Amino acid sequence: MLYIVDTANIEKIRHCIEFFPVAGITTNPTIISKERTDFLSLITEIKAIIGPERMFHIQVTGQTADKMVREAHALRNIVGDNLYVKIPIGEEGLKATMALHKEGFHITETAIFTQQQALMAAMAGADFVAPYVNRLDNIISDGVNVVSEIVTMFRQYQLSTKVLAASFKTAEQVHKISMVGGHAVTVNPEILDALLYHPLTMYAIDDFSADWESVYGKKTILDMVEEETN
Ligand code: E4P
Repeated sequence: MLYIVDTANIEKIRHCIEFFPVAGITTNPTIISKERTDFLSLITEIKAIIGPERMFHIQVTGQTADKMVREAHALRNIVGDNLYVKIPIGEEGLKATMALHKEGFHITETAIFTQQQALMAAMAGADFVAPYVNRLDNIISDGVNVVSEIVTMFRQYQLSTKVLAASFKTAEQVHKISMVGGHAVTVNPEILDALLYHPLTMYAIDDFSADWESVYGKKTILDMVEEETN
């Protein structure tokens, strides 16, 4: 399962890509707005930080297919390879998806709340669909089940479109997505931390250090090897 980070905050992106196996960055207009800075400079800086090998998902803001397609071209000129154009599902979105797919763009269909929206997006040529897990849970639906059924449907029809589950509030929601075969999740940096942390891990590591130091003091393996070779 791919871990993608749902933020446009430069410091958080730097931290996440240094310490976590991050496959890319997702943004949306809300996430971008939180940074309160020049949009074009921001995406240029993010691209420079994440490099060519990681995906960069950027959402269009145009309301018509024509504007979405033009924005996609403009974004590709700035971001280059590994741009995933995020397009909200809807008639205009599908029209733009079909046109951009023909041109070879990568597309992530976003704001997915139903299995049939996801199937429609896949048939239009989306590379990823992004169902909103926590927002589904908040309306007393079942976000994990919606993702599970989309994964099953794509497998059943042998579609190459992947599920990029989005909108998480808890590490438990993310874990459940991995249990139903979600291909990717996009999470905020705080959830990434929560997925890694366990107090028993910290205790175990502290015990290892204490036992080692009780015999070898502060010397590390590297100190010993260097002493031997010098
Ligand atoms: C990502 O693609 C989505 O836009 C995002 O995860 C939505 O998250 P939210 O429901 O926390 O706003």
